[in-house]
Amino acid sequence: MRATGILETVLYAENLGRVRPFYEDVLGLECFQASEDRQLFFYCGDQVLLIFDPAKTSLARPPAAGVPPAHGARGAGHVCFRAEAAELDRWRSRLEEAGIAIEADFEWPAGGRSLYVRDPAGNSVEFAEPRIWRLPRRVRTLRGAKLVVASHNRGKRKEIDDLLRPFGVETVMASDLGLPEPEETEATFAGNARLKAEHAAMASGLAAISDDSGLCVDSLHGDPGIYSARWAGPFKDFALAMRNVEEKLQAIGATTPDTRRAHFISALAVAWPDGETRCYEGRVDGILVWPPRGTQGFGYDPMFLPEGATLTFGEMEPQAKHAVSHRARAFAKLVDDLF
Ligand code: IMP
Repeated sequence: MRATGILETVLYAENLGRVRPFYEDVLGLECFQASEDRQLFFYCGDQVLLIFDPAKTSLARPPAAGVPPAHGARGAGHVCFRAEAAELDRWRSRLEEAGIAIEADFEWPAGGRSLYVRDPAGNSVEFAEPRIWRLPRRVRTLRGAKLVVASHNRGKRKEIDDLLRPFGVETVMASDLGLPEPEETEATFAGNARLKAEHAAMASGLAAISDDSGLCVDSLHGDPGIYSARWAGPFKDFALAMRNVEEKLQAIGATTPDTRRAHFISALAVAWPDGETRCYEGRVDGILVWPPRGTQGFGYDPMFLPEGATLTFGEMEPQAKHAVSHRARAFAKLVDDLF
């Protein structure tokens, strides 16, 4: 993992009135917020330069909504690294693993989050979403990219390939590059999708896409959920997995459509070798039928009847499934962001 950008640079000056003309008039920076006894804020390219009176900014203010934690620096300085929302949780874990105390994990009232720690010299180090300063996310595109599909599930690989083909993306399978499948150790679909994509991106040096998905049955408390593949056993036998689900539904007397509600979730993650990962989620609701119907699709498709449909995913042509599926919905968000 590597820090990918700086968002704020902070300097200190005891007399703000004296430094303002230098930055504003001599350097030509746009001063967009001034309170001359405390702070001057400037835009500078895709960063902001902040200048504080050290006596004022080191004073802790009573905690209240919208009052950020005091930097507490007296000239040593403060730096803020740009991080997307999804990266902030990972930074938090990584810093904690390294034994670095989190000083504050702060939500800005107008949107965005900041994480504050100290470097060993006592400097204030922040990780924040660019939107806290109304700055855009880094522009990313997959147009013309070569993309590793980090999945060893043939059904999913085919669907991801079908979805990407119209965009002219060249795909290569993780298995063709001899990349091993990492263990899915996270507790959420998004966590596992991220883990698989990052593993493939780091190992290949290329951008990588992965899907983590599954079936969540309401009256089974969301099972099989992230364990959907595991319920099919070592031979990936989905007739067995569907029987497992049905037996559990029968055991609790779930025979009416209302008690057989379920949804598929797909979390698609795209990871770049420079350390950034973006994640997109989609969901489709429906009910589970028995016996299973149809031979199209894969996994639990034959027992899943999407809301408002008369055919199960197992009976639908691929195009019909793509029009409503959880994966296609996650993919639409990805397309919006990356093409
Ligand atoms: P994983 O994401 O590789 O852990 O496995 C997800 C499992 O969820 C798959 O093996 C399927 O059993 C199930 N699943 C995910 N998406 C679908 C789908 O579109 N149709 C049917 N089953 C699915």
